[in-house]
Amino acid sequence: MLGSAAAYTALRPHLALARRASLAPGLQPWSVPSDPPSNPIDLSRALIGAAVLAPSHWNAQPWRFEVEGNSIRLVADVSRALPITDPDRRSMMMGLGASLENLLIAARAWGLRPTVEYFPQGATHAVVASVTWSEGEPRRDRGLFAAIPERRTNRRSYDGRGIYPQNRAQLLAQVSGDTMLHWMDDREQIRRLADLAHDASRTQSLERRAAAEQSAWIRGDDSEARKRGDGVTVNELEVPGLAHWLPGRAFNPDSWFHRFGVESAGRQVRDGLRSSGAAVLLTTTRRGESAWLMAGQTFQRIALRATQLGIANQPISAPIEVDRSRGELLRLFGATGEEPLLLARLGHAGTPDPSVRRSVSVVATFRNS
Ligand SMILES: Cc1cc2nc3c(=O)[nH]c(=O)nc-3n(C[C@H](O)[C@H](O)[C@H](O)COP(=O)(O)O)c2cc1C
Repeated sequence: MLGSAAAYTALRPHLALARRASLAPGLQPWSVPSDPPSNPIDLSRALIGAAVLAPSHWNAQPWRFEVEGNSIRLVADVSRALPITDPDRRSMMMGLGASLENLLIAARAWGLRPTVEYFPQGATHAVVASVTWSEGEPRRDRGLFAAIPERRTNRRSYDGRGIYPQNRAQLLAQVSGDTMLHWMDDREQIRRLADLAHDASRTQSLERRAAAEQSAWIRGDDSEARKRGDGVTVNELEVPGLAHWLPGRAFNPDSWFHRFGVESAGRQVRDGLRSSGAAVLLTTTRRGESAWLMAGQTFQRIALRATQLGIANQPISAPIEVDRSRGELLRLFGATGEEPLLLARLGHAGTPDPSVRRSVSVVATFRNS
């Protein structure tokens, strides 16, 4: 199915959300046209359609797009930032970088030559990148492009199988610029990492303000997610036990039941890591928004290549977000002195259904040039 030449390829026809009820008008379908639309407005719309399928922390989708002629500005929507758990907006920038990378991959796959201006001078608001393009190039990045609607964050238990060295090499080949990737596949080290991540998750969930911020992005069921067009459902979280059945209470820091949510979230992370074939840590030695944006681009290329190779991934942020875990995390990966950006586990498991996205018409504005 990947790489099919059908004119408009719904790459996951069994999209469960779409099956249970037709997509709400404000939701983006998980499909991308295999050929570029000829009308310039439709082309911009299709490029943004690929961009919004990117991952973002808590599926907050912290993006807006401004289209003018053949240029698209990617704008940070700071109303969707996570001020408590992501105060310097590192994760927000990484989500924006992932979205930018999807847009660039789609452009190249459609035979365009995109040019990016990062944080353009003179922009009056939170423009993080401006993309323009010219036509008539050979088509590139077709494999990564076909993986865009297939990629998922997979929070299931993996089957423990390792990652083949040749696949590891392909993932490492996606790393560029100032971003570095550290690889862990020693079982004993992974067990230590799992314990660290478990403790960090518990510490974070027990902090009232962090728990309240996260619970605002948790959706009780698919219909709530469809209505809001964002956030993560309890099903997607794969939390075991009572938290699965009483999410409204288990993730409410004011409820007596919150203790069950804290334990379940910690267990998902610990058992998830223990079941993984490998863990990776993205780091940088250059701080700041542009380094984080570009690291988001790198992460998205890794996630898409992993998807092509049949490798599942789940980012795990708590050990980076909880101050006292960061030093130990870096030590475990032999990366002391670097800045940790994103921890993810890799492995093999069945593919979950896609999460919701706000549609292009909701996140994009079009101006005549
Ligand atoms: C910077 C960043 C941090 C993330 N951190 C976590 C995390 O700590 N735990 C988790 O389960 N998913 C994490 N995710 C995955 C998002 O929750 C996921 O992308 C979002 O819910 C949309 O789902 P999808 O990736 O399946 O499209 C993170 C994603 C990004 C880009």
